[in-house]
Amino acid sequence: MQLSTKHLLGIKDLTPSDISLILSTATQFKEVLQRSVKKVPSLRDVTIVNLFYENSTRTRISFELAEKRLGADAINFSASASSVSKGETLLDTVNNILSMKVDMVVMRHSASGAPHFLAKHIPAAIINAGDGINEHPTQALLDALSIQERLGSLEGKKVVLVGDIMHSRVALSNIYLLNKMGAQVMVAGPPTLIPKYIAEALHVKVEYNIKKALEWCDVANVLRIQLERQNQVLFSSLREYNLAYGVTRKLLDGLKKEIVIMHPGPINRGVEITSDVADSKQSVILNQVENGVAIRMAVIYLLASKI
Ligand code: CP
Repeated sequence: MQLSTKHLLGIKDLTPSDISLILSTATQFKEVLQRSVKKVPSLRDVTIVNLFYENSTRTRISFELAEKRLGADAINFSASASSVSKGETLLDTVNNILSMKVDMVVMRHSASGAPHFLAKHIPAAIINAGDGINEHPTQALLDALSIQERLGSLEGKKVVLVGDIMHSRVALSNIYLLNKMGAQVMVAGPPTLIPKYIAEALHVKVEYNIKKALEWCDVANVLRIQLERQNQVLFSSLREYNLAYGVTRKLLDGLKKEIVIMHPGPINRGVEITSDVADSKQSVILNQVENGVAIRMAVIYLLASKI
């Protein structure tokens, strides 16, 4: 089987079959990653550049690891340490890199649509590693794999995305994916951090009361407050936010069931989530990170077959 697209720009462009194919391929790669020899050198002739115009820990390391596990040649590019600081444009930078015969570009950029722009102008396969407040498709895929592993499937499961929905590319990619795969989706947080028409536009439930949201769900995916993407004051203080919307042990103990706790990272401990929740056995936060390598291997492997 093959993916229906030659790039991974967003979950919006994928079919449910594409998503199932990526998840099942990642599950096979997870088995490989448990072995003592963790390499499947199937992409020996493929050269991939990781083009990061914005900071990253998890995404960047896991893409590089995935490329190495597949035997591809991986090159890392950091905008802050490049000729971008001398005024070089994005297209000039990429065309210079491509002239060195690169097959695939993994790109993170603070501007929404930057990977889509590249896909229109260069012949390489593009993987979006997070663009502004638009999408973070591989994060949604690894989140889906983590839910599937814990609950058996996505179909019919109730997932709430908690917090700064307005500025979160993780939220948008998760909403697209969960809707396509038959899960029920809710967003919860302060009204100032939830887009006004999201219920109609993206077919999600909206809840402003965190206790009610947690009572409804099977899974809570807790998002970071993206202060770096906010240009106005949207809540009074981080302490006030924590008191009203922080996911705490007391809140979870008040529920009649045990829900799964997720967080894409980086965590602001004591703001959107307390340490005792983040580090509890209900939390799959480190499983999400582990799944990131297998998901990225699957995406790279499947797109490489279309080069
Ligand atoms: N979840 C995530 O994208 O983390 P990084 O910003 O560290 O890559």
